[in-house]
Amino acid sequence: VSAHAAAGGVGAETLATYLESQRAAVEAALVRAVDALAPTIPRDAGDGLRHGVLSGGKRLRPVLCASAYTACGGAAQDALYDLAASLELIHAYSLMHDDLPCMDDAELRRGLPTTHREHGEAATVRAGAALIPGAALWALDACGRLGVGAERAREVAGVLLRAAGAGGMVGGQWVDLEGEGKSLGAEELDDLHRRKTGALLAASLEMGARAAGAPRSFVEALRDYGRSIGLAFQIVDDVLDATQSAETLGKNPSDAAHAKSTYVSLHGLEEARRLADLEADRAVAALTEAGIEAPMLVALARFVVERDR
Ligand code: IPE
Ligand code: IPE
Ligand code: MG
Ligand code: MG
Ligand code: MG
Repeated sequence: VSAHAAAGGVGAETLATYLESQRAAVEAALVRAVDALAPTIPRDAGDGLRHGVLSGGKRLRPVLCASAYTACGGAAQDALYDLAASLELIHAYSLMHDDLPCMDDAELRRGLPTTHREHGEAATVRAGAALIPGAALWALDACGRLGVGAERAREVAGVLLRAAGAGGMVGGQWVDLEGEGKSLGAEELDDLHRRKTGALLAASLEMGARAAGAPRSFVEALRDYGRSIGLAFQIVDDVLDATQSAETLGKNPSDAAHAKSTYVSLHGLEEARRLADLEADRAVAALTEAGIEAPMLVALARFVVERDR
């Protein structure tokens, strides 16, 4: 029993069991989503879509969404995991496009060939594009089945699409590509990381809280938690890129080769790790200050900074 568990926190084994059960529910929801979406597009794009969405991954965004929903008093059910899966559909598309030759030009993802290496660039671009409206419609439909009223459902879908858009992930990806070969300053890099990765993670928590009909103070605290772990998540992604093997990561480390500005290139390894830890602490503090009792979210904040892939 770790000191943390002894102090009333969730131990490593409990977290592992929780993650396993949550991921199983998410995988089932993703199969439902892909079975609905893939047949609506040409065969080659549909195959690419299946590859990009169903090839593993930590499934952290949907797990966070479902965890926020239950922390706010909602009951776990299929429609919840369908809503949560909409985040993973956007995430999967972002990775499929991120790996394309015109972006990070990667050949390995989640221990498998990237989608374009397996299914071609055209199918990958089309499948990724189909996932964007597909995710939005899937989220709206899931909200309906969760009993979320039309106005709130519109808000929930809006949170997803804003996070995915130019002010969030897509905008962050532009800045990331334009920053290759340049040395971004600390503020620019912070903004880049918050947009390309932080926005969708923050949206995961906010969508869960809003769908549960949580009071405003809870929605805001969970969004703050999400913003902090979202930044921490990308800092750690930079650290892992600089320190881990392709075998461990299931993807090829490539930031240095692409001359990307990262928390490691700007601050050094040790400081990057310290800044990630600080954000995980901030995330937990946001919950405590709002009086949200969610031991799993506390454990997940630690997981984000302690993971090795
Ligand atoms: C990788 O995301 C890309 C980033 C946004 C940093 P994840 O580390 O969540 O990738 P999977 O889904 O677990 O493969
Ligand atoms: C990707 O950041 C962020 C996305 C929005 C996909 P990276 O380019 O660092 O992600 P990895 O390291 O390839 O997973
Ligand atoms: Mg990238
Ligand atoms: Mg990449
Ligand atoms: Mg990376």
